[in-house]
Amino acid sequence: MKRAHLATALAACLAVTAPALADDTDPRQAEARTLVKRFVGTVKPLLTSTIQEQGPVAAIEICAEQAPALADQLSEETGWSVRRVSLKPRNAERAQPDAWEREQLERFAARAAEGVPGPMLNHGEVVDGRYRYLQAQPVGGVCLVCHGETLDPAVAEAIRTYYPDDRATGYQLGEIRGAITLTAPAEDAGP
Ligand code: HEC
Repeated sequence: MKRAHLATALAACLAVTAPALADDTDPRQAEARTLVKRFVGTVKPLLTSTIQEQGPVAAIEICAEQAPALADQLSEETGWSVRRVSLKPRNAERAQPDAWEREQLERFAARAAEGVPGPMLNHGEVVDGRYRYLQAQPVGGVCLVCHGETLDPAVAEAIRTYYPDDRATGYQLGEIRGAITLTAPAEDAGP
């Protein structure tokens, strides 16, 4: 039993690190990671402080308005496309993954189920001539307030009002809520 488990864990590690190593040579990976850090480093503290100071219903605005606005701002500033996607989107219009994103998200979910921590789950590669990078967003304690199994009735009602087709509840700690998806600016076609 133990041995089989170890083999699975090892296979998971290898599968995660192998593509990452191959991509280390791409300088755009570092740029993508910096953008992810800026995004998460801004949204997460804002979410936590708003929940503490004004309660969870008020904080819905952070994930609903501020996070997409920041993604747009980063896109404008840098020329990268920055968005959020999920296999179970809350915002069905904005967060629908394309085929490449779906494939990575499914891999991330499988790895997370094997115990690989969400922050380690990322993947970058050139797809159809453009560099793309996806970073998993794992469910932490604060996320359960709006994405967990049991929501405060006022939170549940507010979410139902704005997102009648919401699919983004019922998550457990450590599961993959979605990902930040980045596409590098198109390179100038050289001579
Ligand atoms: C206060 C409520 C609230 C909290 C707490 C919260 N979210 Fe959200 N989340 C939302 C709402 C509302 C949306 C829909 C955003 C939109 O309309 O684009 C959303 C959307 C998302 C999306 C975009 C994909 C989708 O389903 O539309 C991701 C990814 C996400 N949340 C991850 C997280 C993570 C990770 C945490 C914890 C760090 C978290 N959220 C905490 C309310 C919340």
